[in-house]
Amino acid sequence: MSVILSRPRYSAPRRWLHWGMFALVLLAYVCINVFDLFPKGTAVRANILAAHFVAGIAVLLLVLPRLMLRVRHVAPPITPPLAQATALMSKLTHLALYLFLLLQPLLGVITLQVGGKAVTLFGVTLLPALFGPGNHALAHQLEDIHGTIGTVFYYVIGLHILAGLWHHFVRHDDTLQRMTGEAELAR
Ligand code: HEM
Ligand code: HEM
Repeated sequence: MSVILSRPRYSAPRRWLHWGMFALVLLAYVCINVFDLFPKGTAVRANILAAHFVAGIAVLLLVLPRLMLRVRHVAPPITPPLAQATALMSKLTHLALYLFLLLQPLLGVITLQVGGKAVTLFGVTLLPALFGPGNHALAHQLEDIHGTIGTVFYYVIGLHILAGLWHHFVRHDDTLQRMTGEAELAR
């Protein structure tokens, strides 16, 4: 007789939020890296930059339900269990990633508002400038901090991805399967 055992894994909403937000962060990074290839004043440049803003704002909106799920439910156990130092490393990386998902888009929105700029996509204003013409010098300083955080997190996200691949291909545990959903084990 064959029995299907279901291994513990992240719930479907948590998996969808993880991969959906990964796609949005990727989109935000791609847009900010390509918009400068187009001449200033063109609609395509403005819309690609606006797509950066919209993807980032979507991350900001989704991180709140995601954090609520994170607080309410513990992560499913990893088989075989991790050494204490590895478990601590992964907890710290996840904490850093959550702070990034919350603070980076928030800082982006604050930067635009301080600079007195609206978010407009294809001519439709999605987020108006709420506080008048703004303070451009301060907006530039905030933009620099936002850019620096964006650069630092290339490395943190890179480390997180390498860790996921290391679990799967080197340590051969179920860390990645818990996040992809292929966690059924036939016996
Ligand atoms: C996960 C979300 C986000 C990430 C990873 C991210 C990352 C970045 C990065 C890497 C840069 C380039 C900085 C540079 O090269 O100097 C940048 C620029 C910028 N971002 Fe974001 N960002 C995010 C969300 C947002 C949001 C939500 C807004 C505003 C609604 C925003 C507004 C800006 C602005 C105004 C710039 C400067 C663009 C320019 O050079 O004119 N960002 N962002
Ligand atoms: C923008 C990119 C990414 C961000 C911001 C991100 C963020 C996160 C966060 C915050 C967690 C903790 C989940 C929780 O406990 O609630 C997590 C878990 C996880 N992520 Fe990512 N992730 C990204 C990309 C990826 C990619 C590309 C992979 C593929 C290798 C991946 C694999 C995993 C795995 C396997 C877990 C579960 C780890 C565990 O439970 O110990 N992530 N991710």
